[in-house]
Amino acid sequence: LGLAIGAPGWGPSAGLALAAESLSEPETLRSANGLLRVRLEVAETSVTLAGRPAHVLTYNGTVPGPTLRLRPGDRLHVELVNRLSDPTNLHTHGLHVSPRGNADNTLDVHVQPGESFHYDIQLPDDHPPGPFWYHPHEHHLTADQIWRGLYGGIVVEDAGPEVPVTRDRVLVVSDTTLDDDGHPVQVSEWQRMEGREGELVLVNGQLTPTLEARPGERERWRIINTCTSRFLRLRLDGHKVDLLATDIGRLAEPRRVDEVEVLNSGRVDVLVTVGERTGELQGLANPRTRGGDGPSGAPGALATLRVGGSPVPALPPVPAYPQLPDLREVQPAARRTMVLGLDRAGGGHEDHGDGHGSGGMVMTIDGRPFDHARTDVVTRLGTVEEWTYVNHTGMDHPMHLHVWPMQVVAIDGRPVEGVVYQDVVRVSAGGETTVRIPFEDFDGRTVFHCHINDHEDAGMMAVVEAR
Ligand code: C2O
Ligand code: CU
Repeated sequence: LGLAIGAPGWGPSAGLALAAESLSEPETLRSANGLLRVRLEVAETSVTLAGRPAHVLTYNGTVPGPTLRLRPGDRLHVELVNRLSDPTNLHTHGLHVSPRGNADNTLDVHVQPGESFHYDIQLPDDHPPGPFWYHPHEHHLTADQIWRGLYGGIVVEDAGPEVPVTRDRVLVVSDTTLDDDGHPVQVSEWQRMEGREGELVLVNGQLTPTLEARPGERERWRIINTCTSRFLRLRLDGHKVDLLATDIGRLAEPRRVDEVEVLNSGRVDVLVTVGERTGELQGLANPRTRGGDGPSGAPGALATLRVGGSPVPALPPVPAYPQLPDLREVQPAARRTMVLGLDRAGGGHEDHGDGHGSGGMVMTIDGRPFDHARTDVVTRLGTVEEWTYVNHTGMDHPMHLHVWPMQVVAIDGRPVEGVVYQDVVRVSAGGETTVRIPFEDFDGRTVFHCHINDHEDAGMMAVVEAR
């Protein structure tokens, strides 16, 4: 095997780890007869990460943790066992499930060191298919725990006619920076403010792994961006890429794309029709405003698609998927704005992102930092609302809502074409993004927040209750 082409700017020490390795996938745990019962043990572990020894946090000893494969209508039982010296908990990011009791309850469930908790999560029968993920959601610790290795994929399989593919892969992208001893580094207050970005951009814990395929094969890649802050702009020249879904939003027909943006915490489900030649999955320059290009500039090659062997015959076309409801046809029960801001702690003086000073900043929604005891927004179950996130800061914020999907209807006043559902939306520096939200089922309290996890930990999170 040859060497994969290294990304520019990774530095000489990282270069040693670039020997081409084939892509490994974490263990896959599948539901049977409508149930998936798993035990996830969270512990500090020594693993191989980016081709070298690392001392990280793991679910069941691996980074990423096991992939959970579910079907719509399934029940997911997770026994989360905490072997850390800090509290942790579990969020099933993007799943349309209840936020109450033992389900996706990030506000009330905190698993203390040495303790465990039984999650019981029921997917509705009509849950949309797609890639999702799980990660800790312990306020003030979320960014550090993800940075140190706590993330894993979830796939909800198609309920309808199967999409014919030769291979179905899960690509969990993450980033971190390791010190000489292989520990994820501690970041400065300034990096927290900007949203930390790692020097190592990994796919399934590997640096530029190789995926082998034959010309003409059609692969399905579920790409999950678990980076704590890094937005991805991806490109795979020489091969056809068709977008099947964004986050929770399965498209009625696949859409051919040259480039695809995946916000951190966001996902894409794509079909790759393999061309004639070996190519690279490229991470282009970081499209985030401020936090800029991170320490390493564009991540460069994330993986190599090595093409060999004889061509295979074309597969049958992809069956259409029922169009998700267009909420623009519904009269919203409420229109709200959510102002994203930055304040000096105690001062109340607004900083419009000119970047002076980083200490003592709090990040706010409607002028207030997160308080788990306060309910910021009450919505009526069975209604559709329109929310506009207005960004008064000088950096982008990817806003994520738990439980209910968001249909993106306008960005900076420009209407969005087609029916696009996401659970995380970009709100650009100084801009605004409008979404419609179907509060159709699941009552209870949960949160919406910036998914630059450092910003979430710094207070850019609020409580919404549907009743
Ligand atoms: Cu991916 Cu509230 O989180
Ligand atoms: Cu943010």
